[in-house]
Amino acid sequence: MKDLTIRLAEESRVSKVDFTNLPFGKIISDHMFEMDFDGKNWVNPRISPVTHMQIHPMNMALHYGQSIFEGMKASRTKDGATLLFRPELHAKRMNASARRMCMPEIPEDIFIKAIHTLVGIEQDWIPPYEGSALYIRPFMFATDDMIGVKPSDTFRFMIICLPVGPYYPRPIKLWIDPNYTRAAMGGVGEAKAAGNYAAAMYPTKLAREKGFDQVLWIDARFNKLVQEVGTMNIFFVFDNEIVTPATLGTILKGITRQTAIEILREKGYVVNERELTIDAVIDKYHKGELLEVFGTGTAAVVANVDEIRFNDISMTFQESNWKVSNTVRDVINCVRFGTMPDQQGWTVQVKEPVEIS
Ligand SMILES: Cc1ncc(COP(=O)(O)O)c(C=O)c1O
Repeated sequence: MKDLTIRLAEESRVSKVDFTNLPFGKIISDHMFEMDFDGKNWVNPRISPVTHMQIHPMNMALHYGQSIFEGMKASRTKDGATLLFRPELHAKRMNASARRMCMPEIPEDIFIKAIHTLVGIEQDWIPPYEGSALYIRPFMFATDDMIGVKPSDTFRFMIICLPVGPYYPRPIKLWIDPNYTRAAMGGVGEAKAAGNYAAAMYPTKLAREKGFDQVLWIDARFNKLVQEVGTMNIFFVFDNEIVTPATLGTILKGITRQTAIEILREKGYVVNERELTIDAVIDKYHKGELLEVFGTGTAAVVANVDEIRFNDISMTFQESNWKVSNTVRDVINCVRFGTMPDQQGWTVQVKEPVEIS
């Protein structure tokens, strides 16, 4: 691996950004990280000003979808430190996705050093408000130029950063459509593969047309096991336990999900990862034993659900019951903002740019 080269922008765009009014996913910071896989090794790591890229019309990622990504956040504490949240888990999940999609793994230390270095350069882009963050998007795609279905030999790994505010400004409404599924056993649901998101777009569009925010997916085999939501895992707070669907191959193993489970168990809640049918959810709801439902994900952190619709059944949830979700949100946001001690060691402080070797 050759040494990292850094070429900085002549002028930063950061002073033109209003951090109090950030649309999610539209504003990109000044610099990006790139590194190429030449068929044998990762080579030419570089940081340079964000610019358009040239793509050949035969680029294999465009045709066959060998493309994966991650999503994580850096935050600025009240004391001015820059923190990454559980970056090592994102490095591991990126490589799990890479294996499933027949793509090369990225050595974890290089993945993490690249993030430290880029975020170290982009620290001024971190909105200094609780609940806001610098969204970090590592991604990898095929770069062979060839028509023909086979794994690419060459790939590019990149990281870009976007300052973001809260993802969902209000509680969300979920739609269950038994005609569509997101993932089947043996498929790629557990990978953060670009195609998973493309496949979800049409059912999500239908849900939006009906006034809902997202689809709550149910499984492909039995058409009744609750799975996950858009870009979030889902939690159901029953009177005697908290349940989130077990990740048995079709569901992304969310890092916020894992964090929420750890927070809640530590606070003494009974949290079970298990199969859960939509019929059981409806039954609990009708008995008054389903108190709250919420989604977890890096972008949203915690999103409260105020309605779930399945055929002609509408389940609605009252804000006065949203205790568990508020606990999870508060702990994660406070740890990120430095107002609560990070007893579990989830955060890692970004140091000055580190050398990649
Ligand atoms: C399909 C899907 N499920 C769940 C999640 C939540 O995962 P995490 O908490 O790691 O962001 C995401 C977001 O990454 C996602 O895209």
